[in-house]
Amino acid sequence: MSTRNALVLPERRGEFKVADVPIPKPGKGEILVRIHSVGLNPIDWKIQKHGLEHHLKEYPAILGLDSAGVVEEVGEGVTKFQKGDKVFHEGNLNVRSGAYQQYTVAPADLVAKIPSNLSFDQAASIPLCIMTASVGLYVKDGAGLQGPWDGGEGKYEDQSIVIFGGASSVGLFAIQLAKLSGFSTIIATCSDCNTELVKSRGATHAIDRNADVVAEVKKILSEPFNLVWDTVAAEDTQHQAIKILASDGTLLLVGPPEESVKAVKGDRKLYRVFGSPYMHRELATSMYTKLTDYFESGKLKTTAVEVLPNGLAGIPAGLQRMRENKVSAVKLIVRPQE
Ligand SMILES: NC(=O)c1ccc[n+]([C@@H]2O[C@H](COP(=O)([O-])OP(=O)(O)OC[C@H]3O[C@@H](n4cnc5c(N)ncnc54)[C@H](OP(=O)(O)O)[C@@H]3O)[C@@H](O)[C@H]2O)c1
Repeated sequence: MSTRNALVLPERRGEFKVADVPIPKPGKGEILVRIHSVGLNPIDWKIQKHGLEHHLKEYPAILGLDSAGVVEEVGEGVTKFQKGDKVFHEGNLNVRSGAYQQYTVAPADLVAKIPSNLSFDQAASIPLCIMTASVGLYVKDGAGLQGPWDGGEGKYEDQSIVIFGGASSVGLFAIQLAKLSGFSTIIATCSDCNTELVKSRGATHAIDRNADVVAEVKKILSEPFNLVWDTVAAEDTQHQAIKILASDGTLLLVGPPEESVKAVKGDRKLYRVFGSPYMHRELATSMYTKLTDYFESGKLKTTAVEVLPNGLAGIPAGLQRMRENKVSAVKLIVRPQE
């Protein structure tokens, strides 16, 4: 049986190691992808360090959620792709579909072709973070808006949103999707150095995250907001967010709500987002049919990338940088074939 290299997490809270594992066969409706570039995400170090059983129970595991590569083989019934197509997709946290490896399988309906204006590295910066931004805005239990790819482009003209963490990978997509949806006021918090970046993505206002954020938001719009997207979900951002949210508004969070925030929420909705296309298949399938065009036309732009050395073996050092909060407005990328 052919094998490929993978970065394996042998046990809960174990140490990553590069190992040889069998190449999976694509099943019905699946494709086999030879991964050229993979994006790193904070969830990977959180799983390795804390275990996080609600995310992952089975070990040995292969993590990694952002894949870009070339179709190597198509499974039964797949007509949308053929061998040689350049594609990107979100992985899943299991041995067949994790992205920290040289070959992975993916369901064809959750894959998009890489547009001609993007490299593999740029394409690998997209999947998890755009899905996360999208779930918050477009699933019924979140903000429940109509997706731009489902006829909702430009539909929410008079609406306003505050996005905490505007320069994070999730935040940069949340800004762009709010813009595509037509929001007239998009306020983003970020470090001062990222002001121009968030504005270039569609923020109408940028607030220094170290300022008195609540006071600064109120200077822009004194009315409370129906929708706030906290892509940081730290204790301080959640407390700021709840203070500017309307009494029946929706707060979207990338992590669990703080107990103290739950205690004051009243009729406000707190929605914890999981950016998984496998949990939100209908939204993901619809979004993936349009992503190639959106990036090709420049309506959506990728996050800046930084390619790390040493292939799969370079991933733990990158995750450590994320853990130390030493990543700003950039997606760390590894090339598994190196
Ligand atoms: N639930 C899910 O499905 C899901 C999916 C993806 C990510 N996440 C979580 O979402 C968070 C963001 O992920 P990511 O990949 O987007 O991370 P990232 O790009 O690595 O985030 C780094 C950015 O966070 C910003 N930031 C940190 N603290 C901030 C604060 N107090 N106010 C404003 N901005 C702040 C920094 O902005 P400046 O450089 O401007 O200071 C920095 O650019 C992580 O906790 C991750 O685990 C959850």
